[in-house]
Amino acid sequence: MKKLIQPIVSLLIFTFLLSACRSPRPGDDIISLEKGWKIQKGDNPEWALPGYDASGWQSIDPHKTWETQLKSFSSYDGYAWYRINFIIPKELKDNAYFGDSLQISLGRVDDTEQTFLNGQLLGQNNVLFTDTSAVPGKFEGDSLAYSYYRKYVLPVDDPRLKWGKLNILAVRVHDHGGGGGITNPSPSVSMVDIKDYLAMNVHADPFELKGENYIKTIRLINGHHSEDFDGELTVRVTSNNDGSELYESTEQVIISAGEETQHMFTFSAPQTESYKVEYIYNIDGSVYPVYQVQGAPYILTPPAPDEPRINGPAIFGVRPGHPLLYTIPASGIRPMVFSSDTLPPGIMLDSTNGFLRGEIRKKGEYNITLTAANALGEDSKIFTIRVGDTIQLTPPMGWNSWNCWGLTVSDEKVRSSARAMVESGLVNYGWSFMNIDDGWEADERTRRGELLSNEKFPDMNALSDYIHGLGLKLGIYSSPGPLTCGGYLGSYKHEYTDARTWADWGIDYLKHDWCSYRLIAENETELEELQKPYIIMRNALDRVNRDIVYSLCQYGMGDVSSWGADVGGNLWRTTYDIVDTWESLTNIGFSQYKHSSHARPGGFNDPDMMIVGWVGWGPDLHPTRLTADEQYTHVSLWCLLSAPLLLGNDLSRLDDFTISLLTNNEVLEVNQDALCDQADRVYNQDSIQVWIKDMADGSKAVGFFNMDEELREISIPLGALGLDETYRVRDLWRQQDEANATDRINASVYPHGVYLVRMWPEN
Ligand code: GAL
Repeated sequence: MKKLIQPIVSLLIFTFLLSACRSPRPGDDIISLEKGWKIQKGDNPEWALPGYDASGWQSIDPHKTWETQLKSFSSYDGYAWYRINFIIPKELKDNAYFGDSLQISLGRVDDTEQTFLNGQLLGQNNVLFTDTSAVPGKFEGDSLAYSYYRKYVLPVDDPRLKWGKLNILAVRVHDHGGGGGITNPSPSVSMVDIKDYLAMNVHADPFELKGENYIKTIRLINGHHSEDFDGELTVRVTSNNDGSELYESTEQVIISAGEETQHMFTFSAPQTESYKVEYIYNIDGSVYPVYQVQGAPYILTPPAPDEPRINGPAIFGVRPGHPLLYTIPASGIRPMVFSSDTLPPGIMLDSTNGFLRGEIRKKGEYNITLTAANALGEDSKIFTIRVGDTIQLTPPMGWNSWNCWGLTVSDEKVRSSARAMVESGLVNYGWSFMNIDDGWEADERTRRGELLSNEKFPDMNALSDYIHGLGLKLGIYSSPGPLTCGGYLGSYKHEYTDARTWADWGIDYLKHDWCSYRLIAENETELEELQKPYIIMRNALDRVNRDIVYSLCQYGMGDVSSWGADVGGNLWRTTYDIVDTWESLTNIGFSQYKHSSHARPGGFNDPDMMIVGWVGWGPDLHPTRLTADEQYTHVSLWCLLSAPLLLGNDLSRLDDFTISLLTNNEVLEVNQDALCDQADRVYNQDSIQVWIKDMADGSKAVGFFNMDEELREISIPLGALGLDETYRVRDLWRQQDEANATDRINASVYPHGVYLVRMWPEN
């Protein structure tokens, strides 16, 4: 017996000692608020009170919008309250590195929010109220609030906190439109640690590619008011092919309180492969190292030949008697001379720049042969002008100001982007719309009810002449409601006047955004109510003597893909707004299979604008947070989906990678195919998705997407994809022929990357 007792006693002593001298580990310092949330529709100040009994409310997952999980909230916009109870143990404080402050993180909230702790207002829209007697006031109206990560940092002795006791968090949410509620990342309560004071900004500076070298700068910012940080910064680069290490450096880095340090490093590697770049800053005694990971840009596509090559769609639609402008997109060195065989009556071709202009009165199909010639050769292409009732026969390609400039868009920014569209050569691949999003409208209409542009856009006619002079097209933005989402004037009750104004200005495209129409609509779940304002604007656009591409933006309400074309839309947003993260890209892009049957020539599902290049939604931009592979995935998927390709980046800041990404003629051909089929997801297993799009020539465009964090060797039987012939296969990003596929497709696909091919049946 004694023999048995002794080891048990020593084990107990050992366990006691271990727990007494243990330092905090990941997980000890955090209270997860992932589970236990309740929600109630409506608005009532009593719901903030600790004594209120919310047990009868519905349960809700705080990672997804309320529309996506609760039937009673489908298409719901307006007020709702969330509540959760949790205990904050005293040990949380004792175990912490600093022990002075606690943070309550809610993730994102769509759209605006006020947060109450134990009945008292804590803050709103990410602004903490230090005055603990603050009372709820106005908290709506911030159109960007949906994108803020809500985090409230409190000193540990804040009277609103109850240590060792039950705390009640109540969140009053207002959803202005589209998705609503608390969404990712996970809500939690934790002590403020080094990682919360130390910001590692790896996105402010791009990777620069110089010869065989990658040059990269990252920034470390110490946000603590008095504490200097002394730690080790490690940078590691590994190949995504075989995990081999290409580069590693470690340096001691001291960052004084309130200071920023910059760290530049260079590694050399062939720029045709995918690499993982990791940054780790570690301080002894902190719970977590600060960690970030990125993917370095690499170029898959060979440069375009110097000989002429006519890119772009094979067909273009225009209404009879309406002005036509089509710039023949052709790559190759300049000067280039454009010509054509017989042109339809009323149309002229400018041989120096390839602008087709004029108007055709008679409906019908006009097949012409276009030719582009330069010193090295020539290229010809059969091109159809279809004069009829349907326009935008292939998805629109161009640019929109929102994802870069947000409400700070101006005439000069649109002009410089337009110049860059031409000078970068993007125009030679069919990128042509220059669309002004919200923020151009003046505060008041004229006495005759006409909408004016504000001081940032001094002369819309001059701007449109300038844009058209470059062979590009000009788009504009409005709302069917009295105000736009940014709080500018909308078109409510002025639709006919506005359509006329835009036609007079020479506008070619309108994005019509629901926004404040929610205050007008009697019931947002009724189809008729959802369609009404879009039909009114359609009728107004039909009265003007100009083709204006009509883009419906109401975030997918009422299954808009099933009726967007019926109300005369050329494209319709199927989702809430995109941001430049893998999470947003996948949530939006990879859920589009639901809408695939509704795409057609002249009518496209719109999964929102693109998030490559420098983006930012305001004056301060950063290179997209997507890795290179994620960007290849993004462009491939949007092409397979026949989605509008509207760039959201600052075009005056394009690097070689981004230009290459956006000028692969074979990839863009998938998007611009005249059949306008939208790819179906035919395979979704074990983090691999396969999407197939039928092409007009009988071939298939196929994307093999790796949703995994690791390289994946895939080998999929053709039969599992519904393919049953022998196929000639071409890798579209690398523009190279592959071995014929007879029974399986084999490929290595980078993490979050894609293998995009076109397959032609052999017989
Ligand atoms: C949102 C819309 C965005 C942008 C913004 C402008 O509703 O989804 O794409 O247009 O409004 O305020």
